[in-house]
Amino acid sequence: MKKNLLAVLLLAILNQASAQVPAERAVKYRQSAYYLMGQNLSQMNLMLKGETPFNKAALEMNAETIVLMGRLVAHAYPVGSDGGESKAKPEIWKENDKFRQLQQASQVEADKLHAAAKVGDQQILRVRFGDTSKSCKVCHDQYKSK
Ligand code: HEC
Repeated sequence: MKKNLLAVLLLAILNQASAQVPAERAVKYRQSAYYLMGQNLSQMNLMLKGETPFNKAALEMNAETIVLMGRLVAHAYPVGSDGGESKAKPEIWKENDKFRQLQQASQVEADKLHAAAKVGDQQILRVRFGDTSKSCKVCHDQYKSK
């Protein structure tokens, strides 16, 4: 019994120690992924508005990158990685199920955007683009500080 307790305590201490230093790294990691997400979404926006020439291959790559970055950030919120440079609100860890649902919902939209990019119909792409952008905003409004 005592041995077990000691093992649990030791594990807790080790976990905490390893959670502290990587916290900063986790913040940088997810911000970098989001940065790429944002850049790729803006590039799509310019193309769909006709401000840059339509390029199906480039659009596909934009959408694919958004999907991939979404998969990365899904696992980029270790406990203790709020505060500091992070704009992630502490509610993320308190209402983790709700936060995860929004992540998944956004990922579903990004997948649809990717599928539309493969087809290349601009009208459909604009709708998918709007839905994806909305899914980003829904989460930012709740879980990202300004
Ligand atoms: C489920 C919630 C959620 C979804 C969905 C989401 N974000 Fe975010 N986003 C966040 C949070 C939280 C932060 C703040 C991260 C931090 O600073 O630690 C953030 C930060 C950002 C940033 C700022 C990164 C930086 O340089 O600091 C950009 C850009 C961004 N998101 C773009 C997007 C785009 C584009 C989408 C949709 C394709 C998206 N986000 C979807 C929660 C979300």
